[in-house]
Amino acid sequence: MISEVLQKARDFESQYGPHIPDSERPAFHVTPTIGWMNDPNGFSVYKGEYHLFYQYYPYSSEWGLMHWGHLKSKDLIRWERLPAALAPDQEYDAAGCFSGGAVELPDGRQMLMYTGVRRSRNPDGFIQEIQTQCVAVGDGTDYEKFSGNPILDAKDLPEGGSAIDFRDPKVWQEGDNFYAVIGNRTTDGSGAILLYKGVEDFRGEFVRTLDACHNQYGKMWECPDFFPLDGRQVLFTSPQEMQPVGLEFHAGNGTLCLIGDYDPDGAGFVRQSAQAIDYGLDFYAPQTLLTADGRRVMIAWMQNWATISGKPNHCRWFGQMTLPRELSIRNGRLYQNPVRELENYRGQFVAHHNIPVCGEINLPGIQGRVLDMTVTVHPIGNESYRWFRIRAAKDGEHETIIRYRPDQGTVKLDRTRSGLPHDIVHTRSFFVRPRGGEIKIRIILDRFSLEVFVNDGEQAASAVIYTRQEADVISFEAGGTVMMDVEKYELCFDKEENEA
Ligand code: FRU
Repeated sequence: MISEVLQKARDFESQYGPHIPDSERPAFHVTPTIGWMNDPNGFSVYKGEYHLFYQYYPYSSEWGLMHWGHLKSKDLIRWERLPAALAPDQEYDAAGCFSGGAVELPDGRQMLMYTGVRRSRNPDGFIQEIQTQCVAVGDGTDYEKFSGNPILDAKDLPEGGSAIDFRDPKVWQEGDNFYAVIGNRTTDGSGAILLYKGVEDFRGEFVRTLDACHNQYGKMWECPDFFPLDGRQVLFTSPQEMQPVGLEFHAGNGTLCLIGDYDPDGAGFVRQSAQAIDYGLDFYAPQTLLTADGRRVMIAWMQNWATISGKPNHCRWFGQMTLPRELSIRNGRLYQNPVRELENYRGQFVAHHNIPVCGEINLPGIQGRVLDMTVTVHPIGNESYRWFRIRAAKDGEHETIIRYRPDQGTVKLDRTRSGLPHDIVHTRSFFVRPRGGEIKIRIILDRFSLEVFVNDGEQAASAVIYTRQEADVISFEAGGTVMMDVEKYELCFDKEENEA
């Protein structure tokens, strides 16, 4: 049964969504059908196709009563829009259907597990939110909420766990068991990640606390994910109220990748290292899935709560996802690169090798706003250089700069002049591993964003830009002299059309 609230959202998006021309959206990055989008939800495989849901408020480009938007794809790049999947239409989720996951059940149905939020008054008369975990099951398009919802509430929390901050279940199957990890706030005021099992039976048994913040990495831990990768175990979370630590973590909503070992029958998860996931300006709430050929693929909201005021006036969609990225662990660090399926959409190729750069240069065929470009920089002989810059999305007034400083070992992203109408944070610097003045920078530009992958994915950095599309110049500049290789592909859905 489709509720009135959901039907209204579906009617609205099918009426007004098509008013937004494709040219006003990114070519390859997921945007909402209309209105507002935040976290990816339910990123999973169902009946051999990839499904992606998202936090969705169709009626405005601001955050509002959360619905779930929905898309599916055969290759993680070309997405088909589906009608909104969930709406806040029950007493237990009247204040929103918050983030969650999805999984294929043994009986072939798809189960969505999400946080139902309702409002109540605390003893002082203040309004507070109560968060519980709920499920809905369906056929990949339409979902029915379980009559026994919520399946997890305050009584299922470990001692001291807060029922106000208990959200974002990520669910997966392991052998015959189905598990969920859920973010929670504990007695010390900071976050913890709880593990539950048995969720396929629309219930849940608390197994253990997998890890806790102890006020070290931010406060509340949102949007967890937990998975094995290259012989290690990884715990992702997106902490609120982070404090900066060198260039690794920045203030506010950040992301945290904990790499460790996992012994389910013994010590549980034992973390060995902590790092940020993306070092750019716009990245939050990543979720992963496992492909049939064994790849761990991540997608994230290419935005941050601190940057949402950067939107253009009167925009009809707001919020983008990153490209799906393949994850791996090398030298104890998380590596990420765009999914290899993107290469099927590479069109016209232009390469320039062994180009000396001293001052600023442009190269024939190297421009555009929808492209996949790799720049490799080498010092010439023993000569050192002070800095190297790529200036993209450029015209007389605009540019987005990626700068490398070999003496500091830092890359800086600067989108100060990239069409954002508000004075929010526009620059971010991060450390890269020194390689004797050599650096490899891959940039995916897609109209309203850039994603940067340094040294084969050892660091990734994402940023949204709103520079007008005519600003498509790319230049290269060095303080000193360097030798550079550039390889650039246009990205396009229809290669023949592109090559004509
Ligand atoms: C993270 C988050 C989640 C919550 C959702 C609400 O961005 O705050 O914790 O479920 O957004 O839209």
